Amino acid sequence: MTFTPDLLAGKAALVTGGGTGICRGIALALAAYGCDVAITSRRIDHLEPTARQIESIGRRSVAMAADVRDPAAVEAVVTRTAAAFGRLDVLVNGAAGNFLCLAEDLTPNGFASVVDIDLKGSFHATKAALPHLKQSRGVVLNISATLQYLGTQAQVHAAAAKAGIDALTRVLAVEWGGYGIRVNGIAPGPIAETEGVRRLLSGPARDRVERTVPLGRLGAIDDISNAALFLCSSAASHITGVTLVVDGGLWLASNWMAEASAARMES
Ligand code: COA
Repeated sequence: MTFTPDLLAGKAALVTGGGTGICRGIALALAAYGCDVAITSRRIDHLEPTARQIESIGRRSVAMAADVRDPAAVEAVVTRTAAAFGRLDVLVNGAAGNFLCLAEDLTPNGFASVVDIDLKGSFHATKAALPHLKQSRGVVLNISATLQYLGTQAQVHAAAAKAGIDALTRVLAVEWGGYGIRVNGIAPGPIAETEGVRRLLSGPARDRVERTVPLGRLGAIDDISNAALFLCSSAASHITGVTLVVDGGLWLASNWMAEASAARMES
């Protein structure tokens, strides 16, 4: 194991979007290091296999279907998590939606859908968790991205949402530092074997992006889980308001979606 096995022993977490992809990886990693983990997303069939896996590690799990766009539903999920585990120490805001669409073709509802899921959903969950996090002097971890650092084509909706998430991270770190609550983020680059990469990068676009990564490969889910474990642990006890980029140096090297678009046009 990368960390000592009792890194998060006795803690309880809620991971939105925790049934699949990067956030499933984070949920399983939290459990492997001692956390009970509740997971939520819109589809219960996405959640149940992951919940069973968490239980097979020996931790408790609760799977709850909810849409993070609905503040009342999110509050019910948070309340149920705290009731099931008797506490809430870690909230991971990972529920997200995305697709490629140029701004001139994007409808108001298309823009709103992504902002509502990513940005407003993160706010709803974080606000609902506050009373429990005050008690535990807990941690919020927001899953962001790197596409908002540049003028990434076909991503105006996601870039706006993720830039907003980064702002949440900074503002809440300041507002809630006095409660002993830390608020940090992770900005993953493209992560192999995820829905995000399947939707946003395919064929030659993926090869071209991969060649641009200074560290020579796309990210793996474990790269994000390990960063999450660090930020959620006491090793990061004086770190708040930070969004940690985990992308092998890719965004510094290029506008990776511009490269992907160019490759799609060429093919
Ligand atoms: N291109 C352009 N617009 C799109 C689109 C696309 N590929 N996919 C959805 N939209 C628009 C729809 O047209 C609709 O707008 P309209 O009512 O003006 O036509 C709006 O987005 C909402 O779409 P809908 O499918 O009704 O919303 P939803 O709530 O069911 O889905 C999304 C939310 C759009 C984010 C959908 O992509 C989704 O559910 N994603 C979840 C999984 C995911 O994205 N994972 C990857 C993470 S990187």
